Amino acid sequence: MKANIVLLPGDGIGPEVVASARRTLEAIAQLFHHQFVFSEYLIGGCSIDTYGIALTDEALEACRAADAVLLGAVGGPKWDDPTAPVRPEQGLLALRKGLGVFANLRPVKVYPSLISASPLKPEKLQGVDLIVVRELTGGLYFGQPKGRSRTTDGRERAVDTLEYHEDEIERIVRMAFQLAQSRHQKVTSVDKANVLESSRLWRQVANRVAQEFPQVRLEHMLVDTAAMRLVSNPAGFDVIVTENMFGDILTDEAAVLSGSMGVLPSASLGTDGPGLYEPIHGSAPDIAGKGIANPIGTILSAAFLLRYSLKLEEEARQLEVAVEKAIDMGQTTVDLGGTYTTSQVTDAIIHHLLH
Ligand code: IPM
Ligand code: MG
Repeated sequence: MKANIVLLPGDGIGPEVVASARRTLEAIAQLFHHQFVFSEYLIGGCSIDTYGIALTDEALEACRAADAVLLGAVGGPKWDDPTAPVRPEQGLLALRKGLGVFANLRPVKVYPSLISASPLKPEKLQGVDLIVVRELTGGLYFGQPKGRSRTTDGRERAVDTLEYHEDEIERIVRMAFQLAQSRHQKVTSVDKANVLESSRLWRQVANRVAQEFPQVRLEHMLVDTAAMRLVSNPAGFDVIVTENMFGDILTDEAAVLSGSMGVLPSASLGTDGPGLYEPIHGSAPDIAGKGIANPIGTILSAAFLLRYSLKLEEEARQLEVAVEKAIDMGQTTVDLGGTYTTSQVTDAIIHHLLH
């Protein structure tokens, strides 16, 4: 098949890990006789430096016209001034919104050979197999009004709003139930319904959607409890569905189960149009340019791209198997206790793919 893939390497380690993932996609193309056409655009801090904004219309249009988009990471200390009018993260939020990718799937997998890389006791990690479905284009990240003003006493005031329409809740909760059907038949809807009105609406809609899926069990959990359970009993979860910022926080926490943020991929999907694929880790400016970043989260995101956007299940599976072999053989970067560089890990994965 022929596919147009837009690459958005971004900042920090983004360019290094995206280059690795591109090489694995090229190897897949060679192995299965596909034609992947890549084009690259700027996003985040590097786009601010060149164009003054974090995402140009041209880059967004190219993403919209593509079959899929693979992103590295955005941000870094250079653009961290809290008073700056433009921020790298604006590019990422505009991209997610612009592509309408409301569902961010973040599976957390525990690789047996990485159990010792996690600070949790090995017995806690037994049987962990969960996926967080994070709402990505609404909630606290996008609510209006938002901004700063001065009160009459001359002091500053800042506002963020957590807003949801029931349609937004319904589609994300339905996606979670659909996923649970092909997994372990359980959905945990995470909210703060004891305090927030938006959470009470969320719960009401979740209960309604649950009636369409009688074979799937729905449980409601407050977000503070969920934060605790993720480390005290992570094996108790199957599908977690939650608000944008709750999902952001809980997925960083859940990454600890895998031993490293560096191995976790994500897929962001809408109802139609291209999917957006990115590792869950950030731009890691402290190790950028050193050639030691873990490329696995981005390579596994590329596997999701093959599976969800290009419908190439066998190709996705083979790439995942190759990654798992590299992990099992200790062909890993320092964050996982190995001594390999980014490109050596990539070479090892491509080797397993082709042999
Ligand atoms: C993530 C990141 C982003 C988010 C930042 C970079 C805006 O933390 O993808 O989890 O908060 O969504
Ligand atoms: Mg995050």
